[in-house]
Amino acid sequence: MNWENLIVNLECVDTLPTLPTVFTKVSELIAKPNVTAKQLAEVIQTDQAISMKLLKIVNSPFFGFSRKIMTVQDAVVLLGFNATRNTVMSISIFRALNNGSTASGFNMKDFWKHSIATGMIARYLARKLHVDAEKAFSAGIVHDIGKIILQQYFQEELEKVLEVINDKNISFYESELQVYRGTHCDLGSYLADKWNLPIPLIEVIDLHHTPGEATEDPRLVSIVHIANLLCKGMGIDFVASSKKQDVDPYAFARLDLSAADIEQWLEEIQAEVDQAEEMFNNIQ
Ligand SMILES: [Fe+2]
Ligand SMILES: [Fe+2]
Repeated sequence: MNWENLIVNLECVDTLPTLPTVFTKVSELIAKPNVTAKQLAEVIQTDQAISMKLLKIVNSPFFGFSRKIMTVQDAVVLLGFNATRNTVMSISIFRALNNGSTASGFNMKDFWKHSIATGMIARYLARKLHVDAEKAFSAGIVHDIGKIILQQYFQEELEKVLEVINDKNISFYESELQVYRGTHCDLGSYLADKWNLPIPLIEVIDLHHTPGEATEDPRLVSIVHIANLLCKGMGIDFVASSKKQDVDPYAFARLDLSAADIEQWLEEIQAEVDQAEEMFNNIQ
């Protein structure tokens, strides 16, 4: 099947995963003026499971708060509205897409570890570069959601992609282009658009392998591009055999960054990544 047919097929799927309504409500609410932490907390509390996970995550070393946070309202106050929205979004996306599949060549746990670790590296880079760190974390979490679409709805294509990677020693992205003339970036941005995710995140999903094409938030896209490749370089990937793409020089230039800077930060980045497993346990 080629790219055009894949999208036509996808349009016919009436069981596409949906996000919990609480995420939509939270997004709508924080867009309004004069909203309070109490109102936001009340909305989040309508979803028991999401509230529990939110508390678990804000109490993890990932956020580094010194005291224990007992209520959703405290969490909202400490995180701020945007970080709250982003955390609820990560939990929601995880719930919508984590189907526990272990289809050949695609291990769901490894997929999420890669996504979370990419988010953590992106957050680290964002802090160094004075870019919104929580947004970078969310962008890392969502960057590869198209691969889940591929795995859920186009198993045959996925198997072929994996076969071609083995035969030709090319990257996942290049293999997809050869097999169906499209990529997980197209599939992921289709879903993200349906979900009404924020535009900069849709752009990250769409362009994290081709950051030079970004127009909305090129710095964010460049950060996730580099974080993704660093993550793979550290062996956190779910297609272990695929060849790694090189960092696009555009991304370094856009961030005024060099490979030597990254080299210097590697130890700290590794420490971030070491928390990915714990974050995975908290979020699921
Ligand atoms: Fe990707
Ligand atoms: Fe990735």
